[in-house]
Amino acid sequence: MDMLNIALPKGRLGEKVYDMFESAGFGCPSIREPGRKLIFENEETGVRYFWAKPSDVAIYVERGAADIGVAGKDILLEYSPDVYELLDLNIGKCRMAVAAPAGFRDDRRKTLKVATKFTNIASNYYNSLGRDIDIVHLNGSIEIAPILGLTDVIVDIVETGATLRENNLEVIETIVPISARLIANKSGFRFKSESIEKLVNKLSEKAEIRQ
Ligand code: PRP
Repeated sequence: MDMLNIALPKGRLGEKVYDMFESAGFGCPSIREPGRKLIFENEETGVRYFWAKPSDVAIYVERGAADIGVAGKDILLEYSPDVYELLDLNIGKCRMAVAAPAGFRDDRRKTLKVATKFTNIASNYYNSLGRDIDIVHLNGSIEIAPILGLTDVIVDIVETGATLRENNLEVIETIVPISARLIANKSGFRFKSESIEKLVNKLSEKAEIRQ
């Protein structure tokens, strides 16, 4: 039988995602063993899992190295990979937002300086508002940019809001809600449709419970 290759996002979200796959009947017990291994197979359930960096999952799926995978809606909006989005798993819920130092007021006569990892999401958003911006692309710890005067605002993911609060920043606008999505390679979806559909049906039951 052809194995189903599944790219999981390494980290906290990935653990939750694997729990869902396991409870849907696609378990792979060796994945729970401690160690640095990244690829795990279970011939009985016909799955091969591997841990990828969350922002790389869509690359594996788009190029067919993985048949399916789980990626945040943030990554899908930012990189627009050519994949099928099959299901909202209703986990990893957060939002993409604009945040600024408490009390910030936008002066629309000036170009707005924006720090973000998500340059496409930020420019699409401000384009839709007709607002002129200057984007500074950063790779992490975005919150410090307005504090140090590098930019006026940030566009970033807000989950609990703790990082913003502890750095005296506040949300000005929510751009879009985010959650984890099941994605599939377009040709893999045709060739392995039976096992993928079975997985999607089982996972959608689990995802509904979490709504
Ligand atoms: C993300 C995001 C925020 C934080 C939001 O950062 O960029 O900094 O989580 O979560 P909160 O609202 O619950 O505080 P991440 O931990 O991924 O690290 P990063 O700084 O490298 O982006």
